[in-house]
Amino acid sequence: MIEIDHLTKRYGATTVVDDVSFQVEEGTITVVVGTSGAGKSTLLRMINRLVEPTAGRVLIDGEDTRSIPEDELRHRIGYVIQGYGLFPHRTVAANIATVPRLLGWDRKKIAQRVEELLDLFQLDPAEFAQKFPHELSGGQQQRVGVARALAARPALLLMDEPFGALDAVIRSKAQDDLLAIQRRLGTTIVLVTHDMNEAFHLGDRIAVMDQARLLQHATPAELLMHPADEFVERLVGTAERPFRLLTLTKVQDALEPGSAEGEPITASESLHDALSRLMWSGRKALPVADASGAIIGKVSVGGILGHGRPLP
Ligand SMILES: Nc1ncnc2c1ncn2[C@@H]1O[C@H](COP(=O)(O)OP(=O)(O)OP(=O)(O)O)[C@@H](O)[C@H]1O
Ligand SMILES: [Mg+2]
Repeated sequence: MIEIDHLTKRYGATTVVDDVSFQVEEGTITVVVGTSGAGKSTLLRMINRLVEPTAGRVLIDGEDTRSIPEDELRHRIGYVIQGYGLFPHRTVAANIATVPRLLGWDRKKIAQRVEELLDLFQLDPAEFAQKFPHELSGGQQQRVGVARALAARPALLLMDEPFGALDAVIRSKAQDDLLAIQRRLGTTIVLVTHDMNEAFHLGDRIAVMDQARLLQHATPAELLMHPADEFVERLVGTAERPFRLLTLTKVQDALEPGSAEGEPITASESLHDALSRLMWSGRKALPVADASGAIIGKVSVGGILGHGRPLP
């Protein structure tokens, strides 16, 4: 677990991170969102001590990062900087091998690791290992950047707007790839973005920052239903809120007694799924089944909309 404990950063008289505290559970993704200049990058860089805090501390599994030698810390914590930050004159393989080399791994082990990561990121080693960054597309460079950060199997990965330079379609694919890899490796991730959709897609927890302060640290559902203030509410985006809520809410939560005609939907599916099924089928209600297939009630258009109504 990572504990961010009353972290503050001042440059002269200006406070750019003001007394921020939150915890990151192992194996989860925390997304830090906020406007430009809010202090997101500074906060992230205080975690691996690229920036020294003015006050407060960071604990990794109870250990104060100040008691860990800086180079060891950087090797334990993967860091993906804004843009992709690949070394332009090094091949893809050499880029990925950067930290393992610094750690003195032997050649064979490094080669194996590079190949494994290229496979993991769906970049054929035979085709890509010896290419240079400028020969890759933006999305491919981005994947190499993440592969490089994961090379020495860090328990913690810091990512500063890793998908910022990608167009919408590739970005969404990159997010899915990251999620799949994160679930597989169990890596703990702190990711900075100012894209709220990205935050909702990736975040187990979302930390909202504005003008150096942490306004709210909560799950996506909590953020939608109980925004801490007007700023958070605006950031969450009034227009898309009901739709986001539907993807986060289960059919179970809008279950009504009775039954209906048609193919049943499972109680564990999302209300978003239910609504699209209702719209496609032209029905007003669908039967709802539990995991064993037994019908336990129905879900209706009115019920789903009613479910959305009591929102603040
Ligand atoms: N080395 C520095 N010296 C002085 N001021 C700095 C320094 N680094 C950052 N700042 C200031 O701290 C504030 C927060 O910067 P930071 O890079 O953390 O913001 P950010 O939330 O990541 O913004 P963006 O979304 O634009 O990347 C900004 O006002 C910035 O000008
Ligand atoms: Mg930044």
